[in-house]
Amino acid sequence: MPEFRFPADFLWGCATSAYQIEGHPLADGAGPSIWHRFAHTPGLTDQGDHGDIACDHYSRVADDVRLMRDLGLSSYRFSIAWGRVLPQGTGRVNAKGLDFYRRLVDALLETGIKPMVTLYHWDLPEALDDRGGWLNTDSADWFAEYAATCFDALDDRVTLWVTLNEPWVIADGGYLHGTLAPGHRNPFEAARVARNLMRAHGAAVQAYRARGRHHIGLVVNLEPKVPASESEIDRAATARADAYMNRQYLDPAMLGQCPPEMPEIFGTAWQDWPAEDLALARQPLDFLGINYYTRGVTRHDDHVWPLRAGNVRQPSSTYTETGWEVHAPSFTDVLAWVRERYGDIPLYVTENGAAFEDPPRAGPDGVHDPLRAAYLHSHLRALHAAITAGVDVRGYYLWSLLDNLEWSLGFAKRFGIVHVDYATLERTLKDSARFYARVIASHGEALGKDLR
Ligand code: BGC
Repeated sequence: MPEFRFPADFLWGCATSAYQIEGHPLADGAGPSIWHRFAHTPGLTDQGDHGDIACDHYSRVADDVRLMRDLGLSSYRFSIAWGRVLPQGTGRVNAKGLDFYRRLVDALLETGIKPMVTLYHWDLPEALDDRGGWLNTDSADWFAEYAATCFDALDDRVTLWVTLNEPWVIADGGYLHGTLAPGHRNPFEAARVARNLMRAHGAAVQAYRARGRHHIGLVVNLEPKVPASESEIDRAATARADAYMNRQYLDPAMLGQCPPEMPEIFGTAWQDWPAEDLALARQPLDFLGINYYTRGVTRHDDHVWPLRAGNVRQPSSTYTETGWEVHAPSFTDVLAWVRERYGDIPLYVTENGAAFEDPPRAGPDGVHDPLRAAYLHSHLRALHAAITAGVDVRGYYLWSLLDNLEWSLGFAKRFGIVHVDYATLERTLKDSARFYARVIASHGEALGKDLR
């Protein structure tokens, strides 16, 4: 077997999300989302950037699927905008909104690309936020209703479903630090939202078991935490950071329990979950999706609220434009850790990638992005190492297909392997895209060579 060959049926994909790429968030009867409201509130996003046009994927979907075909992708992970399907979040279904996703799924299947559909990538309908959003215990029923509508419309053609994308980010960015929609800063809310998100996840999986015929899972973002020193306080800080980011959602989903560090982190804001909520959160899953970007070398830090743990910058490492350390060995480690802690469940790497500085306009010979290509090269080798060590990883989705709206950081942070000129919306392959296409075409063997 050549050194870096991947299994023949391994899925090679790219990932995106609705609000980040589609544009036209109110088209064809869609209801606005919390991201539409947040991004249109002055001062909350870099340069006031918003998703009104974004990559104009809503109009250019056929071209974008052709782009995926040219790269040789065998799968594509995208999210459905809840408010396109149910403008008020519950109740009346907007057929035109569903039609957009029907057309996308059909175009993918005609091209031989397997869709992976995320039901929730952060764009809660504004109408539901006005009823308390994820703070409202009814949110589990709202989400199950929306999920069932999507299953009924698409499960005949979609075989891979994801309930939530990164519940940690939803609660931490949206309700604890306020950097993401809906922009709240309240530990009592963050703790409550964490529980309601996992109840919603469980309710959607139950809805799937009643009507779906394929596979459903949960996507979490994981960041291995390693202590900056052997001191007692740094090791305790590392355990808190690990509980907060890596175990807070997987422990309830997979083990039916919350990490013991949670009360220490949240203090009086933490309430133990009732047994019925733990039971609802723990549904049999067909797979887990793991998003991996970086690790955290962790030390005790009283200034970081409420975790009292912060990252220590590593002088010899490369950092991305979002300030994340590039550390490929931790990618292998985190996949092995998931198997060790949660058992041998099929895994997909549902996001992995990097923001590096690229020019706003493509040059005559394309876009050279050596740092992103190097990131991909090292991380795909690290992924291969995990598979060789026996971790059951079935596919890899690079974040992201296109440069897109990096939430409150706006369009300035570019994660795409395809460059988007935001003045003309023209797409240009970066060198990283060409490299990824070679890896796919060779089933990984191209990883054996140094980057050219
Ligand atoms: C999210 C994406 C985001 C990416 C890079 C993940 O947290 O799922 O929406 O763009 O990371 O920050």
